[in-house]
Amino acid sequence: MSASRVGRAGLKSAKGAASAAAAPRPSPKHKLQPPSGTTPTLSKRANPLLTNFHNHPPSTTTLLTPRMMTIMGVSILGISTYIGYLYASYTREVTHSQSLAVSSDVTDRYNRTARTFDADVNMSETLMRLGSKRRELVQRARGDVLEVSCGTGRNIEYYDFEPRRGLVDEKKGVVGMRGCQSVTFVDLSPQMVEIAEQKFKEVHPELVRSGRVEFRVQDAAQVTPPSQKLTNTKQRQRGCFDTVVQTMGLCSLPDPVGTLRHLGTLVEPQRGEILLLEHGRSYYGWLNRVLDNLAPAHADRHGCWWNRDIGEIVRESGLEVVEEKRWHFGTTWKYVLRPPRKAACEK
Ligand SMILES: C[S@@+](CC[C@H](N)C(=O)[O-])C[C@H]1O[C@@H](n2cnc3c(N)ncnc32)[C@H](O)[C@@H]1O
Repeated sequence: MSASRVGRAGLKSAKGAASAAAAPRPSPKHKLQPPSGTTPTLSKRANPLLTNFHNHPPSTTTLLTPRMMTIMGVSILGISTYIGYLYASYTREVTHSQSLAVSSDVTDRYNRTARTFDADVNMSETLMRLGSKRRELVQRARGDVLEVSCGTGRNIEYYDFEPRRGLVDEKKGVVGMRGCQSVTFVDLSPQMVEIAEQKFKEVHPELVRSGRVEFRVQDAAQVTPPSQKLTNTKQRQRGCFDTVVQTMGLCSLPDPVGTLRHLGTLVEPQRGEILLLEHGRSYYGWLNRVLDNLAPAHADRHGCWWNRDIGEIVRESGLEVVEEKRWHFGTTWKYVLRPPRKAACEK
């Protein structure tokens, strides 16, 4: 007996047993006739699975028409070609990056890129929703404020220039000063400072002649206390700022730890705060490897070391951590810091 006959015999006996249990077998005299207008009954030798074909929807495999299979094939080919292209570009860029001898001080790059800086970062900042993170951080600034590495003034629109008493800590119900009395904007690049000043005139024209804002071309590591022309006499006498702000600045500073320590000496020792929004290393090893591999080329082009360990820099600075948060696989870092207990900015 051939294998197919054995199979058919098995199926036949299984089918017979099942139908015998379910219903009396019709006598040969009363052969089943299809009702008029319906599909004719298949012969006894037909595959029992096919006998139910008209009562059940076709299985999903029957939906893959040749046309769809062609489209899928072409799509898979396109995607794999694109991935191959990306990988080839990445390895070429890594080879180029590793061949560069880039100085750790890349701050001069900003003089060249100042004019296109905003256009270059707008898209990525929008996709990462950095605007709301800048707003949340900067609205915490109060009193006499120092913003270092201010760049083109991307935080200007978020400052609250209405000093008043109000809730400073909603959870603990702490009341204190809110809003900024003055802001001193500092950056090493004259081209960046010029753009920031122009932006400030457009956003806050009423504040330009008020003596509550100052722009300085200065190294963050050597920033001096608030200027005499700023209005908060009490703070001016003590030579302190109430708040220091820096966003996306640690990546560019030649001496990030030393600069943070210096900023700690400029902030009011009892209630002063240093607010940071930075970018650097991730939680993930694979992403850090990509950042490390491409870091020299990125620093050479943009003046920014994007693979720095921001947490380590903060720890080494000795500043007290009040709040720490991370987003975007851990590459975006927010810190609220206080000067160490022994620090004092009084001169
Ligand atoms: C990536 S940009 C960030 C600009 C801006 N804070 C922002 O959030 O868009 C870094 C800025 O740090 C400035 N910078 C670099 N080294 C500096 C230093 N030693 N002192 C002050 N500013 C510095 C650069 O000129 C540049 O404007």
